[in-house]
Amino acid sequence: MKKQVGIEALAIAVPRRYVDIEELARARGVDPAKYTAGLGAKEMAVADPGEDAVALAASAAARLMRTHAVDPAKLGMLVVGTETGVDHSKPVASHVQGLLKLPSSMRVYDSQHACYGGTAGLMAAVEWIASGAAAGRSAMVICSDIARYGLNTPGEPTQGGGAVALLVSEQPDLLAVDVGLNGACSMDVYDFWRPIGRREAVVDGHYSIKCYTDALSGAYRNWRERALAHEVVRWGATMPGEQLARILYHVPFCKMARKAHTQLRLCDIEDAPNAPASTPEGREELAKSSASYNAQVASSLDLNARVGNVYTASLYLALAGLLNTEGAALAGQRVGLLSYGSGCASEFYSGVVGDKAAKRMATTNVEAVMAKRERVSVAEYERIMNLSYENPEPLPPQAGEFRLSEIRDHKRLYTQGP
Ligand code: CAA
Repeated sequence: MKKQVGIEALAIAVPRRYVDIEELARARGVDPAKYTAGLGAKEMAVADPGEDAVALAASAAARLMRTHAVDPAKLGMLVVGTETGVDHSKPVASHVQGLLKLPSSMRVYDSQHACYGGTAGLMAAVEWIASGAAAGRSAMVICSDIARYGLNTPGEPTQGGGAVALLVSEQPDLLAVDVGLNGACSMDVYDFWRPIGRREAVVDGHYSIKCYTDALSGAYRNWRERALAHEVVRWGATMPGEQLARILYHVPFCKMARKAHTQLRLCDIEDAPNAPASTPEGREELAKSSASYNAQVASSLDLNARVGNVYTASLYLALAGLLNTEGAALAGQRVGLLSYGSGCASEFYSGVVGDKAAKRMATTNVEAVMAKRERVSVAEYERIMNLSYENPEPLPPQAGEFRLSEIRDHKRLYTQGP
């Protein structure tokens, strides 16, 4: 039998505070429906300077190791996907290795390509294991980011932060990846970027949405070509995309998943051997199907709507949300995943949900992590946003979580809660 490889378990970490999105809209003099119905948001995580990409990554990783009894001696690779790292040279991954006292006999590095960096790391881990080079060892891939555009900007309601840690192994209890079917599409574009030294991203918002959907089309069509060749999907009474039980998207804001799904359906509708609608308007209308969106996408977005954008981690937060609610029902079924990173790179891949997904998700208990959060006012959110990155607030870390406590001689020092 062909070796199975994929995600065995996951754990999340989120900032301790969040702001209500309708309250933020009212404070900005905007109709709250623009942020809720227009962007699909409910709440937005607010990370303070003590909750940087290292602290969030280490907190998620520690939770993964603890709740799933991961044997550190069996890890051979640690990759952190991030675009909000804390140093031009020292990777977030080496901080995590030290904080978790992981063995030295490991490949440890960061992977950066905007929001795609986590998926790049995941695929490196999956293919390392599938190739046999891992010789039975597992990998940990952590996606950790803080999305920040600044106060009073169009991007403000699409901020957020958090981390998702993934255990990748030959025992894919959550998701067995269809190794080799991946479709990629990359282009040189300036849609979203963050010049060195800037805290906030620069973004050409509407153009970034077009870059995302263009890249999605290329990546999905590449995946579909391979999936058709391997008879994983086929043209028939239903279109190839409709044969995936669920499709997970990169979620910079929840409404983007709806736009992405329309684009994916449009690819199938335009390319179908027996085109189901002949005019561009007819094809567009068919692609927009709310029934399809509700059946294939909506159930994955709960955590994203409550946390906001998490850049590299947003696709994997959607995976956590989906398996948290539908892990049992989806066992044995194939889902599609679309990763997008500005600049830009995208990848579409698929995998089969494992029989133990629901059990693993119950162990990881994402709801307990979410329930610990504290709602803050818009005034408090603004105060936190204006804090200097150099002097983190002297707050005690929460139980089991890491926090940046001090920067001394340009070295970052972290403490862990009891
Ligand atoms: N009631 C209901 N809906 C309303 C409304 C109201 N009163 N007012 C506006 N809306 C709707 C609009 O119709 C629109 O919906 P559609 O796109 O479906 O038409 C939606 O609310 C947003 O309105 P606008 O487009 O006018 O909003 P905006 O110009 O202020 O900015 C944005 C929206 C471009 C997404 C901005 O928030 C932004 O720049 N965000 C950051 C960039 C981003 O997330 N890009 C995504 C692709 S890039 C990527 O994915 C990488 C990454 O992680 C960043």
